[in-house]
Amino acid sequence: MLPAEMPELPVTAAIGERPPFGAMEHLDAARLRAEQERTLASPRRRASLSARLLFSVMDLLYGEERTLPKFRVLELVARVPYQAWENVAYVAMTHTSREHGFARRIFDKVRVSRFEQDNEQWHLLILEELVSRQPEHLGFVRHRIVPQLLAFAYYQLSWFMYAVRPSWSYRLNADFEDHAEHEYAHLVAEHPEWEDVPYDGSFTGDYGRYDSLADLFRQIGYDERLHKLESEGRIAAPRFA
Ligand SMILES: [Fe+2]
Ligand SMILES: [Fe+2]
Repeated sequence: MLPAEMPELPVTAAIGERPPFGAMEHLDAARLRAEQERTLASPRRRASLSARLLFSVMDLLYGEERTLPKFRVLELVARVPYQAWENVAYVAMTHTSREHGFARRIFDKVRVSRFEQDNEQWHLLILEELVSRQPEHLGFVRHRIVPQLLAFAYYQLSWFMYAVRPSWSYRLNADFEDHAEHEYAHLVAEHPEWEDVPYDGSFTGDYGRYDSLADLFRQIGYDERLHKLESEGRIAAPRFA
């Protein structure tokens, strides 16, 4: 499907301008502040039971306080629905490769999923680096093994939901991304000192250069909103439309 033929989704403009259809939306400092305020002023989604269960498990394992190690786990889990969708879509393409138009539409979806997945991967790499600079020692089981188990379970759930009824998986992901968007907005609000901390990480060349750590997290939070809007737009869309 060509960009001009993309269906009208609530975030079509944002998605249409992003890879594989365009460049990533990189906001300036004033817009980043405005979008954070918008997030803080907006109500959260009414999360599904499975999403609420996931958030409760994360609170139980990593505490209710917003900490960088907890956000690292959140980013590790955030990638997996996109991986699951890519996997299901490849299976579907294998079985429909003779129907060129249909296979092409699936392939375009795969490309969007890959972009989202890469975007989450940058978030994770940035968080990994920031966490590694902190002096506190993190337990290997709680911060390395358990997050992998969580991600594995979430992958299986996303894969199953997407294979049976994609809207279930999109809804769960929208809940997850909405949660992430709000959590990042609150994280920045809780750390006014980050306004004066420059971000000098290894990933500025890939993810962009930001005046402060606060703006870096505002941008990540804004990415989460775009992920949410895309999933919300897909909930009602027909399969592989
Ligand atoms: Fe993320
Ligand atoms: Fe996200």
